[in-house]
Amino acid sequence: MTLAGRTALVTGATGFLGGAVARRLANEGVYVKALARRPGRDAYLRDVPKIEIVSGDMLDAERMQAVTQGCDYVFHVAAALGGSLSHQRKLNVDGTRHVMQAAAAAGVRRVVHVSTIAVYGYGYTSDVTEDMPQRPGRVPYNVSKSEAEAVVRASSVPYSIIRPGMIYGPRSGMWTAFMFNLGKRNPTIFLGDGSGYAHPIYVDDVVDLTVLLATHPVAEHEAFNCAPDPAPTWREFLSGYSRLAGHQRWFGLPVLPLKLLAPAVELALTLRGEPQDVPALIPFLQARKTYRMDKARRLLGWEAQVSLDEGMRRCEPWLREKGLLP
Ligand SMILES: NC(=O)c1ccc[n+]([C@@H]2O[C@H](COP(=O)([O-])OP(=O)(O)OC[C@H]3O[C@@H](n4cnc5c(N)ncnc54)[C@H](OP(=O)(O)O)[C@@H]3O)[C@@H](O)[C@H]2O)c1
Repeated sequence: MTLAGRTALVTGATGFLGGAVARRLANEGVYVKALARRPGRDAYLRDVPKIEIVSGDMLDAERMQAVTQGCDYVFHVAAALGGSLSHQRKLNVDGTRHVMQAAAAAGVRRVVHVSTIAVYGYGYTSDVTEDMPQRPGRVPYNVSKSEAEAVVRASSVPYSIIRPGMIYGPRSGMWTAFMFNLGKRNPTIFLGDGSGYAHPIYVDDVVDLTVLLATHPVAEHEAFNCAPDPAPTWREFLSGYSRLAGHQRWFGLPVLPLKLLAPAVELALTLRGEPQDVPALIPFLQARKTYRMDKARRLLGWEAQVSLDEGMRRCEPWLREKGLLP
């Protein structure tokens, strides 16, 4: 079923993924209401046909009701990706509640909620499927995104949930700009031999599945991983960036001293109010596990289309434009 001619609210439209979702929808003939919390962050969407920038904060329940009126679909992409548990709970849990309440009041056909593989936590060291229990541990992002999913599932509104891995591509601050700088360093410095699996998924693939989940009949009330299956190793992922930077040298930090240091680092982070489960993170980064994509293949016939090599190639012009790659 096509979305063309429908109206959709996109939260987080001024961000990396939300901007890409908003543009794809507009391109497909959807009338997009792009939620912008802060004026001046909407440059990527300004003057794009079929996109209307609507100001609003998801913490403002009344405003969310107003902007959602008349929408057929909601793509709930906005979130806090850092900060203390109370900060992230406020945005990710209360914010999501307001979005779902507004969607219910507006009678939308479906909300696509953007979650994350982080809801499974760092504890799993073998393959992860959607039906496995969420064990977000003590990391504020993981906890609050897991709780946000619970809010979505408890709502009366038809929904579908996508759980992306590490979304990379042009405009990605974390998994392209930051990781490119890590890969560019000669030698690239990382944990051990980098043979643990990474979970980079190209932004266009995430947008693709997000849009499909809005209308696919079988996707209703279901959650789907969105990660590379089979997963590449961290070394393959980072080497993609080092190759762009013109080298292939690697320096593996010895794992044992890092493991011994981990509790102290975790204590410091905890005192700052942002625990990251560092002792669990090290085995997590070394684990050879895949977030399995069998469910999307089986139920939706969906498969990611952009290989890691191709994704890296597509990042190159943006890295040059940003002055990160000479
Ligand atoms: N990036 C990844 O690798 C990744 C992986 C898995 C899942 N995800 C999920 O994907 C989604 C988008 O991530 P992203 O990387 O695109 O993040 P991002 O670039 O930081 O964008 C976050 C967006 O949320 C908006 N926002 C935050 N608080 C808000 C509020 N109170 N009211 C309205 N809008 C608010 C931000 O607005 P401002 O512009 O005003 O800050 C921004 O538009 C999130 O749900 C995240 O959990 C991301």
